[in-house]
This record gives sequence, structure tokens and C-alpha cells, in this order.
Amino acid sequence: MAEELNISKGNRAEQYQQLLPQLKALISDETNEVANLANICAALRQTFGFFWVGFYSVDSETELVLGPFQGDIACTRITKGRGVCGTCWKNVETIIVPDVDEFPGHIACSSMSKSEIVVPVLKNNKVRLILDVDSDCLDDFSEIDAHYLEQLAQIISDTL
Ligand code: SME
Repeated sequence: MAEELNISKGNRAEQYQQLLPQLKALISDETNEVANLANICAALRQTFGFFWVGFYSVDSETELVLGPFQGDIACTRITKGRGVCGTCWKNVETIIVPDVDEFPGHIACSSMSKSEIVVPVLKNNKVRLILDVDSDCLDDFSEIDAHYLEQLAQIISDTL
């Protein structure tokens, strides 16, 4: 497919509905994981203007390591159970954080980040990747984002 996205105006759900099939087509043409994750970060940021979009990958039994991302530099390693990402990994569940200051143990990579959604990507029932999306607006994520980002996690999982 052409290396450009075609997203018309609409609400966030409508934009996810347009984006996901295009992302699926884009990554199905390529087997390199880093290339695909990098394009997914760019596409999410380009479409929605999120402050930070990135992946952490499971590096050992106890640690995540930073993967492809778009945005400011971020912390390189996160221990299982720490911060939003480490909690998502430990509990194997999507976490929506309306106000990062209210999340116990939140790891602040930037003071500009105000709200966050974190989604696990599983392969063979084990967490392989964590998708982390940050916004510079409070309360920017809802069940709509969770719904579509979990669909995206499944699309990614199918390519791993
Ligand atoms: N806030 C995350 C850390 C990653 S940065 O937001 C990019 C956390 O608490 O796990």
C-alpha cells in the first residue's frame, strides 16, 4: 500500500475505524517487527496528535525495555509491577489513567503528560509488548480508545 494514511474528519471512533484497516494492511506487507511498531507509533501520533506513543517490550522475567516510539525521550527500563506500564504487564489488562498525578507510582517521563492509556499485546497468552499512549490533556482516553487499541493489539499480535 502507499505509505500515506487516508483519514477523513470524524470523531475518534470513526477515525480509529478508518485507521485500523490501513495499519493492518501496512504491517501485513512487512515482517520486521521494529519497522511495523515504528510505523504504528507514527500513525497513531499523526492521526490523533497524541503527546507520546510508544512500545515497551518484555526483555526478561522482570523488566520491560523501551522500543519504537514517537515523542520525547523516555525511561529505558521499567520493572514488572512498577508504573502504569509495569502494572499493565503484571495484571495483563488495559489501564486508563485520567490523571497521571492520581496513579500511585506513575513514572513521569515528561511533566507535559497528563493522562495515559496502556494496553498489553499478547502472544501465546503471554505479554510480549506494552503499548503506551500519553496525552498532554487530562482525561483524554475512554473505553473507546481501549476498545480500538485492544483491536490494534490483536492485529499486532497476529504478526508476531
Ligand atoms: N508513564 C509510564 C512510563 C512510560 S512514559 O509515560 C513514556 C509509566 O508510568 O509506566
